[in-house]
Amino acid sequence: MATALSASSTPPLLEVDNITVHRGGVPVVRNVSLSVQQGEFVGIVGPNGGGKSTLLQSILGLLACHQGTVRTMGHAPLSSPVRGRVAWVSQAAANLPSNVRLTVRELVRLGLSNHRTWFRPFNRDVQEVDGAIELVGLTEVADRDVSHLSGGQRQRAVIARALVTKAEVLLLDEPLVGMDRASRNSLLRLLDGFCHDENKTIVMVSHDLAAIRQSAHRIIYLEQTVRFDGPSSEFPSLEALAELRGIEDVHDGHHHDHGEAHCNHDHGPSSVTVGIQEAE
Ligand SMILES: Nc1ncnc2c1ncn2[C@@H]1O[C@H](COP(=O)(O)OP(=O)(O)O)[C@@H](O)[C@H]1O
Ligand SMILES: [Mg+2]
Repeated sequence: MATALSASSTPPLLEVDNITVHRGGVPVVRNVSLSVQQGEFVGIVGPNGGGKSTLLQSILGLLACHQGTVRTMGHAPLSSPVRGRVAWVSQAAANLPSNVRLTVRELVRLGLSNHRTWFRPFNRDVQEVDGAIELVGLTEVADRDVSHLSGGQRQRAVIARALVTKAEVLLLDEPLVGMDRASRNSLLRLLDGFCHDENKTIVMVSHDLAAIRQSAHRIIYLEQTVRFDGPSSEFPSLEALAELRGIEDVHDGHHHDHGEAHCNHDHGPSSVTVGIQEAE
């Protein structure tokens, strides 16, 4: 009984209630509502310019909503009860300028820089930084310059910088771009482990539908507004999706891509992307 009661009285970790967000005076996210519970791994997919990054930035409170509200753990984003509990890895966060000389350990320690550290022993910081580096599997390169890492390793390093904050919610914007298949799979396993073993909540934006399907429990398809929100297993085929979006098959059945998505050869044969750009 007690469990049922507390479960029903626990507010969702993230609650987005009918938000509309403008950029440059134009609505780019319109009437979006969604709620995310603790421990969920939610994937957000959709076409380029569909508003995915904008939605994440509104959840963080970096962009104001023209209409509607966002609540994080029942509070306004950026309010003090929320501080430090939501971490964001922005799009292209791993594209660090090549002239910045920084080791992995130094980069990860930056994640602690906006925390109240003055009463914390320095040793504690060292342990937490090393712990985050170990979680993402970069212990062996902890003292290496980040500019000497592979794309996948750099991506892990910026994720470690987010993890060291001990945030309960991780918002990841296109973390898989530029990763080879092996690093992508190990990053997805790592993220899945955070949800299952540490009860972290992950919202990950990606145009890599195959990757999202393989890891997220739930998929949201965003194109200005939410066109699909449900279990990954129920995500519609690309044809059904095109119908949802009101797009006709311009290839008239002659294209080579069968099934639900098309292969993006730039990213290797394993990377299947939402075949949206092609239709536009
Ligand atoms: N700083 C900005 N100023 C004006 N318009 C923007 C800005 N950033 C993004 N946009 C526009 O907002 C829309 C949504 O962009 P974005 O949220 O980045 O989409 P996605 O992440 O899905 O590719 C696009 O039309 C984009 O051109
Ligand atoms: Mg984006």
